[in-house]
Amino acid sequence: MEEQSKYAFGIDVGTENVRAVALEIRGEEDIKVIAYGEAENKKGMRKGIVTDLSGPAEATDKALKTVESMSGVNVDAAYVSINGSHISSETVTGMIAVSSNEGITNEELNRLEDTAMSGRITSNKQVLDVIPLNYTLDGQSGIRQPLGMVANKIEIVANVVSGLTPSVDALGRAMAAANLRVLRFMPTSVAAARAVLSEKQLENGACVIDFGASTTSVAVYDEGDLQYIGVVPAGAVNITKDLAISLELNTDAAEEIKLRYVTADFAPTGKEVTMRHNGETISFKKDEVNEIVKARLVDIFEHVAEHLERAGYAQKLPEGAVLVGAGANMKGIAGFAKEVLKMATRVGVPGNGLKGVVEDIEKPEYATAIGLALSMADDGKTSGVEDEKEKKPFSLFGLFKKKK
Ligand SMILES: Nc1ncnc2c1ncn2[C@@H]1O[C@H](COP(=O)(O)OP(=O)(O)OP(=O)(O)O)[C@@H](O)[C@H]1O
Ligand SMILES: [Mg+2]
Repeated sequence: MEEQSKYAFGIDVGTENVRAVALEIRGEEDIKVIAYGEAENKKGMRKGIVTDLSGPAEATDKALKTVESMSGVNVDAAYVSINGSHISSETVTGMIAVSSNEGITNEELNRLEDTAMSGRITSNKQVLDVIPLNYTLDGQSGIRQPLGMVANKIEIVANVVSGLTPSVDALGRAMAAANLRVLRFMPTSVAAARAVLSEKQLENGACVIDFGASTTSVAVYDEGDLQYIGVVPAGAVNITKDLAISLELNTDAAEEIKLRYVTADFAPTGKEVTMRHNGETISFKKDEVNEIVKARLVDIFEHVAEHLERAGYAQKLPEGAVLVGAGANMKGIAGFAKEVLKMATRVGVPGNGLKGVVEDIEKPEYATAIGLALSMADDGKTSGVEDEKEKKPFSLFGLFKKKK
């Protein structure tokens, strides 16, 4: 009997663009991109955060309609990206005593996590993920999965990812307004990691940097687990704004200069460039543009380096950094980032191992949407196989907390 098709959807709600991807899954080795859609999201978000529900709701609706007409599949529930400098991770520790000799149960592990988190996550924060990093059983540390083992005392070190409740809630409401049920929110860089990092890279230590329009988010992985997440509230649009201000141009002209003439190697050229924009002639010195762009890029990537420092991973990631997001299309950006971060850096192109209409989305800006859809498939949340309790409408409480 032919296996029934299952579907997984990822929606990346960015400050400038919403990108959606639909996958058809027929088996672990048979994952097909059946549709993708993109819509401009020019109003209603600031630095990754929803400021007006209608903007992201309309953009999401538009991207979903494209996906639905391309695939013929109805998208009612999906994994959705979340972003903004309110997203952070912190390490928590906890300990409980266990009395039975039957082996450690899931309930006990949940109780241990709750103990570790109590009082640590303030009431205005929404927990998005809890990642157990290490368990210690009666003094023996380094246990990855204690389920079924016997001990009197269990300790945990876990990484808790959270976001500010009003911001998480607003994004959920914008998605509800687009008739989309959010199965899980994932930080953009975490979702992208699923699409561009191999298991070996996750294990050895690597980071993903999502260089978006107005945010640059960083996720650090080591020993297979997410160790740290941080978001810099600046991105590629800040380069456009800096150029507009310094060269006294409108932002459309500045954007065109950025897209057509900027290469992040910044070697002096002594060249004067003349271009036509909307019937107007614009002249600028290439070296002056370089200086403006470089100053902003240095600032952004030094903030990224600060996050790596805070994570305890500065120059300690053997597999280096992978750049995603549309900003990663800037020519020479990997070489530039390598200089500032002092580690091997490449541009991450998603789609490896996928079938279907992959060619069009083998671009760094699709890493997050693809990673979201792949994560939905990994978690067995593909449409048609959800259990009833997953089918309740959007709720802020408990919906996003994933138990391993
Ligand atoms: N070749 C390029 N060189 C420089 N910048 C580029 C290039 N291509 C796209 N960009 C920039 O990438 C930005 C858009 O990135 P992206 O679509 O990843 O952002 P977003 O996901 O909407 O925003 P965010 O992730 O910050 O919420 C724009 O500022 C655009 O100018
Ligand atoms: Mg983005």
